[in-house]
Amino acid sequence: MGNCWVAEVKTDSPSHVVFASGRNSKHGSKKGTVLSASSRRVSASSVPLTPGSEGEILSSSKPKSFTFSELRTATRNFRPDSLLGEGGFGAVFKGWIDEHTFAAAKPGTGLIIAVKKLNPESFQGHREWMTEVNYLTQLSHPNLVKLIGYCLEDEQRLLVYEFMPRGSLENHLFRRSPYYRPLSWSLRMKIALGAGRGLAFLHSDKAKVIYRDFKTSNVLLDSNYNAKLSDFGLAKDGPSGSKSHVSTRVMGTYGYAAPEYLSTGHLTAKSDVYSFGVVLVELLTGQRAIDKNRPSEEHNLVEWAKPYLASKRRVIRIMDSRLQGQYSVAGAQRTAGLALQCLSMQAKRRPSMDQVVIALEQLQDATDMERTPKTELKSSGHRGSDRAHNMPRRKISVDVGDGKVARPRPAASHLNA
Ligand SMILES: Nc1ncnc2c1ncn2[C@@H]1O[C@H](COP(=O)(O)OP(=O)(O)OP(=O)(O)O)[C@@H](O)[C@H]1O
Ligand SMILES: [Mg+2]
Repeated sequence: MGNCWVAEVKTDSPSHVVFASGRNSKHGSKKGTVLSASSRRVSASSVPLTPGSEGEILSSSKPKSFTFSELRTATRNFRPDSLLGEGGFGAVFKGWIDEHTFAAAKPGTGLIIAVKKLNPESFQGHREWMTEVNYLTQLSHPNLVKLIGYCLEDEQRLLVYEFMPRGSLENHLFRRSPYYRPLSWSLRMKIALGAGRGLAFLHSDKAKVIYRDFKTSNVLLDSNYNAKLSDFGLAKDGPSGSKSHVSTRVMGTYGYAAPEYLSTGHLTAKSDVYSFGVVLVELLTGQRAIDKNRPSEEHNLVEWAKPYLASKRRVIRIMDSRLQGQYSVAGAQRTAGLALQCLSMQAKRRPSMDQVVIALEQLQDATDMERTPKTELKSSGHRGSDRAHNMPRRKISVDVGDGKVARPRPAASHLNA
């Protein structure tokens, strides 16, 4: 662990934390203990603006600056029954605005928005608030949540996002309620691919961003289960020039942070790949990355699951029972192999997110082929538009863990739930 100070987590679910040496203070989180090395107030101007990149990154429409009163009206005074969820930095409420004027609208009319209201009594979220506004203003991609606006007024800090009707992947995987039916295997693969494309875009030369907080609660779903990444408060510009990594205060979420990042503070895009591997294991098993309610040897999902992931035969034993056997065994084995590669202890041995996306596309094509009658396959067209955005269509071979090397397959039909 080097000189990193690792906090004890109180909850059974992963919580948002700053792992830091030295002084720490509590950040009123309902979900868990959030620790920060710094409690000083950071002024808006002291947070450097991320340098803008050209092309499509700048083509997104500028987020609107809302007044606090506008957002109070849009959310009906932040009524408890508008609460969508709560995270380490505050609560998220549902609201309504006019789609043209962006003025507050009657509930049920106009555009639905999600308003994140940072805890005003704590200014530790201010830096993250600024970072999020900066990144989401500059980055635009179908797999990143859209920032519609923000509010900076006196002590108030709010963020206004597009509303994601199906909420977070975390809720779908782990909440037990009639509202959340178990996700099918094909939906899990679709979500993994969408989230992977979002990360691959962030790592691309166009964006050069390390996300640093990849986890199921930050993967939001639209009505068709298209995944979008949210929460850019911890994002960081990737290394520039000859540097191979960025050195930072170690921040992130228990159970998801890469081991070398935890021990040295050296941050690379491969740290995100590790976190992606953790989420793949959560998708396979339906278990949380950290859960203190499990027997002690199973508290840490990855440590416990690794031997099973490495065995084609044994991986079936850790599959989510809520799938009720309704999954492709070959697909599960290959996904487990891919997860193992992402979870490699040596960052260099992990695949890039581009390679992960290609491997997931191959897996999805294979699932489609299994599900589609041969006659239909013959007549189906090319699935070009569903491919990774801005992904090179070059052939990349990715070892998917069963000793075989997966090669690109002919494209098949669209994936349906
Ligand atoms: N744009 C959105 N549309 C719909 N629901 C949302 C949206 N943004 C957030 N939510 C809901 O609010 C919850 C809380 O989100 P938030 O990002 O504040 O915290 P978190 O991701 O759970 O934890 P952390 O603070 O560690 O990131 C999410 O899990 C999700 O259910
Ligand atoms: Mg979040």
